[in-house]
Amino acid sequence: MRLGMPATRYFSYMVTSPQKWQFVLVANRLPVRRLWEGEQTKWVPSPGGLVSALRPVMAGNPNAVWVGWSGVPGAGADPFEMDGFQCHPLSISQGEIQLFYEGFSNATLWPLFHDALVPPEYHRTWWDSYRSVNERYAKVAAELAGPGATVWIHDYHLLLVPGLLREMRPDLRIGFFLHIPFPAWELYIRMPWRYEIIEGLLGANLIGLQTPLGADNFFRATSRITGAKTSGKTIVYAGRTTQVGIFPIGIDTNRVNDLLEDPTVQARAADIRQSLGSPQTVMLGVDRLDYTKGIEVRLRAFRELLAEGRLSPDRCTLIQIAEPSRSQVTGYAEVRRAVEQLVGDVNGNFGIMGRPVVHYLHQSHPISELVAMYSIADVMLVTPLRDGMNLVAKEYVASRTDNTGVLVLSEFTGAAHELRTAELVNPHDIEGLKSAMVAATHRSSGESAKAMKPMRRVVLSKTAQAWAENFLTKLEAC
Ligand code: G6P
Repeated sequence: MRLGMPATRYFSYMVTSPQKWQFVLVANRLPVRRLWEGEQTKWVPSPGGLVSALRPVMAGNPNAVWVGWSGVPGAGADPFEMDGFQCHPLSISQGEIQLFYEGFSNATLWPLFHDALVPPEYHRTWWDSYRSVNERYAKVAAELAGPGATVWIHDYHLLLVPGLLREMRPDLRIGFFLHIPFPAWELYIRMPWRYEIIEGLLGANLIGLQTPLGADNFFRATSRITGAKTSGKTIVYAGRTTQVGIFPIGIDTNRVNDLLEDPTVQARAADIRQSLGSPQTVMLGVDRLDYTKGIEVRLRAFRELLAEGRLSPDRCTLIQIAEPSRSQVTGYAEVRRAVEQLVGDVNGNFGIMGRPVVHYLHQSHPISELVAMYSIADVMLVTPLRDGMNLVAKEYVASRTDNTGVLVLSEFTGAAHELRTAELVNPHDIEGLKSAMVAATHRSSGESAKAMKPMRRVVLSKTAQAWAENFLTKLEAC
């Protein structure tokens, strides 16, 4: 077994034999997903903030196993080792992808937990599949966990796993962390299986949420639905005690620093700026293509500012990275259409030959490429309508080693609770957003540094590793 391999070595793996583990991490996805190239299998990084935050936490831990889906339908692959920890692929069929993943996880829970930005759908067949896939995750975790082991379960795909696992293995220490918001009580009670979900979560010894608002919402839903007694951060229900805590997730700042010092990343940054025509101001958006991210709002604001002459297409360029995501799920194809129509409209009206104003890339990019972009972006636009945390905002801040740059940040992100000196905006208020975007382009370097320094202190001290340590220490004490 190779220990302490550098966290960037994604693609090296080897098959290992079954054994019991002292630390079991359970998430819907593995940190890598499987791609077929002809007859060959290739593993590439999985999308999303959850994976990017958890991978460095697991790296180099020989007693740890990560249970998750390989990203392709059908039989799971053999277990393998990566970055000094074990990966245990779990199989999900094509039908379950439709019912459990695209259906209940991403067309019921995801919209409901994000303020019902698109109407959540409730289907009994989706729920049945959700329950049976959660049972599978719980069973695999129960089989892999050694006596008295710690199991850490993640995110909305697996809300029933803590309770199911508790029944199978009362000896385990079980933690659960929700990466997305927990919705207001008035919204949550629409869920036909509201009781089963809360009961499932209460199988954990410790439940972690990103923000105080999420924790309040969870407490209120729990006490109203189950009648459980709550006092301080403790819930007592059915003879068991569950602690609830607020643990805002961070990023792997070492990885960002290493990339910033890498000469190829530096050369790439200079290259990108030059290929844009070395504009005075580069604005940047980096998101999964998701209706929660407020990409349309930002493009509409940008279009109006160009039309009003408050931003000049000669001096200002916007790069919008939109990573492909959940294309089969209701709402995602629509947001793609709307975003691409806006991009076409802005470029058609304000671009010149050979130089679009918006550089739109519907592709996923490695972190090295994103860090190159962060380092040349004068203004970072993070405008979600709702977001559990938003680690892109933190990656941008971590990349601004000289304290330059302006972060325009939605109030409705978890990150806004910590990055208080960002240019905070309400993305529903387009005039306010426009003013913030213009103000960002006029900030003096002194003003930028004054805002950036406190944000850097937060991001550099509250890393992903510190977050995990904090959660696991609290879990140990439960
Ligand atoms: C968000 C969720 C993660 C999820 C990621 C990517 O960050 O909180 O749980 O893995 O999006 O979404 P996907 O549907 O591709 O797994």
